[in-house]
This record gives sequence, C-alpha cells and structure tokens, in this order.
Amino acid sequence: MKKEFKVTPWDVSGEVDYDKLIREFGVSKIDEGLLEKINKIAKDNNFMLRRRVFFAHRDLDFALKEHEKKNLFLYTGCGPSGPIHLGHAFVWEFTRWLQEKLDLELWFQFTDDEKFLFKDKSYEEIQKWLYENMLDVIAIGFNPKKTHFLVDTKHASLIYPEAIKIAKKLTFSAVKSSFGFNESNNVGEIFYTSMQAVPAFLPSVIHKKKMACLIPHAIDQDPHFRLTRDILPKLGYYKPASIQCSFLPPLTGVSGKMSSSKEMSIFLTDSPEEVKKKINKYAFSGGQPTIDEHRKKGGNPDIDVSFQYLRMFFEPDDKKLKKIYEDYKSGKMLTSELKEILIEKVNAFLKEHQKRRELAKKQVDKFLYK
Ligand code: TRP
Repeated sequence: MKKEFKVTPWDVSGEVDYDKLIREFGVSKIDEGLLEKINKIAKDNNFMLRRRVFFAHRDLDFALKEHEKKNLFLYTGCGPSGPIHLGHAFVWEFTRWLQEKLDLELWFQFTDDEKFLFKDKSYEEIQKWLYENMLDVIAIGFNPKKTHFLVDTKHASLIYPEAIKIAKKLTFSAVKSSFGFNESNNVGEIFYTSMQAVPAFLPSVIHKKKMACLIPHAIDQDPHFRLTRDILPKLGYYKPASIQCSFLPPLTGVSGKMSSSKEMSIFLTDSPEEVKKKINKYAFSGGQPTIDEHRKKGGNPDIDVSFQYLRMFFEPDDKKLKKIYEDYKSGKMLTSELKEILIEKVNAFLKEHQKRRELAKKQVDKFLYK
C-alpha cells in the first residue's frame, strides 16, 4: 500500500509520489524533445535537467519561443523565516545556470509578508532573516546587473497596486480549495497569493510591453502559480511558465523535504565540523547493519540520502556517479566511505559560498530594485 503524502506550499510530508503529483497538479513532464531544445539554446547540458531533478513544467516550450524573441525573464523567490539550507541552494544554482546560459533578467522576490503571516514569528525576526537570506542569494552568484530583488514590504508602493488587481479577481473560494484554508485562517493568508503573483507580470508593467515569464521553483509552489495563470490573461498578460523540481530530502530519510524550521538540515552557514557531524550522525543510510552483511548484500543507493544528495546536487559527472552507485550497490563501497565523499563535496561548496557571502554584505544595495 502506498503511504499518504502531502504537498502544499507550507507543508511537505510523507514519501512523495511524483507521478501522482504530476497528474493531480496537471503539470507536464519534461520530455526528451524539450530537454534537447533547452540544451541547444543553453549550449550546455545541465545535470539537474538530465537527471530530472527538474522534472516538470508548464508552458516551457512557449517560454523558450519567447526567449528567441528576447521577450523572456526569470522569476523566483524566497520566504525569509530561517537560515538557508541546501534545499534552497540547489534550486537557485539551477536558476543561476538558466540566467547565465540564456542571458536573462531575474526578478527575485523576498516574501517577508508571507512568513510573518504564516509563521509564529515576529516582524522583527523576519526582517533579520530577510537580510541574512539576501546574503545567501547574492552568494549564489547571480549577475548583479541583471538581478532585481523585490521585498514585499519594502517595495509595497510598486507591488501593492498590482496585487490588488489580482486580488479583485481571486475569490475566497478559489483560495480555500487550492490551499485547504478555512474560516480560521487570518485574512492576510487569504490575500497572500496576490502578492506572489505580481513578479510574474511586474516586468511587463515596468518595461511597458507584454513579456513572458519563466519561474524555476520546487513543485510545492505550483498552487500559487496555478491561480496566477488563471488570472493573468484576464489582465492582459501571458500566463507564467514554470520549470519545477522535486524536493531535496531531509538528512533523516527520503520523505518530506529539507526545511529551515527542522533540525536535520544542512545550512549554508554551517561549519565543516557541523556538516561532518550532521552527515555522519543523521544521513539516512541504505547500507546494511554490519560491514560483513554490507559486503555480502550491498547497499541501496535509491533510499540512501547521501547518494541522493550527490545525484541531485553535488556530483554533476554521470560517470563518477554511476561508479559510486555500482560500488555501493555491490557492497564494495561502505556507508562511511559514501558519507566521506559527500562531506568533502558539501564542505568544498560551503567554503566558496561562505567566502562570497562575506563579500555579499557590501552588495545588498546593488541588488535591491530601484
Ligand atoms: N513562497 C515561497 C516560499 O515560501 C517564496 C516565493 C515567492 C517563491 N515567490 C516565489 C518561490 C517564486 C519560488 C518562486 O519560500
């Protein structure tokens, strides 16, 4: 029997059945033809696409056609409520790749309003995370000339006039059924999707021309953009296209997603010792209980979190990944050795990231949209 799972923008739990999610959400799989088209335009072959870490989309073909006409921009975002972890970072790494290879403007929304409304945290605490999170986003390496930060409460005079145009066409009943809200949700939560919809057409307003939008995001955000897609044509804009990824699992096992409110995540500010300790102690292993048994029966990379992190984020080389897969499965490679590979890769990534994060402190102003 398949276990229950749940995917909403605010809660992901259980072992996600992605095929079922594709049917339920009504998104499309990224097929070989579409993959070839992206690779051709990008003049590159991205491993996250090839391995279908990014596996679903809406109207990606349309977005690529608009790109040929130089009429496409990117939009993604971050809700600042805690430290940034690897689950955010791989989505943004992919977004950076898209920005660079397709030479696109990126609009990056920080939804401090959302996190204040939905979480039991003070406005001041959210503002602290807003600043901290901006440093991590900058450190990912987006092009400062082509990246524009929008902060919902700081850019209110720009965003609010557009948000009310969405809100006027968004019924309480549509929001209720999309998110499972009821009478006790606060009114800010009910309004919120109107804010997240705005960057999908704000560049059209600013540039005074009808532009196409492509949103890279984890599939849990799809309900917001499903509603957005219903409304934008009514306001004279294109429906936003999207390219959607699966979730990086938490250290403790391949169900649910990594989260900033849970202990078992690797944060971008963790020290090498912390990373080592977390992975050794918590990374769910597909190995056998004893070395003897492991040598005999081999491990299961498909449920092994360390292997999954390598597949989704840290080992872009298919040949190397295949060798690790086979060695682990055959029992030649032990869990401790697999973990060692991951620890080294994560720490190498974080070392560079943390250097850039220091430099980012002087760059925030450059990224804020003016
Ligand atoms: N709601 C997202 C979160 O909770 C933040 C967000 C805003 C976002 N706009 C987006 C994420 C666009 C992806 C794409 O983190």
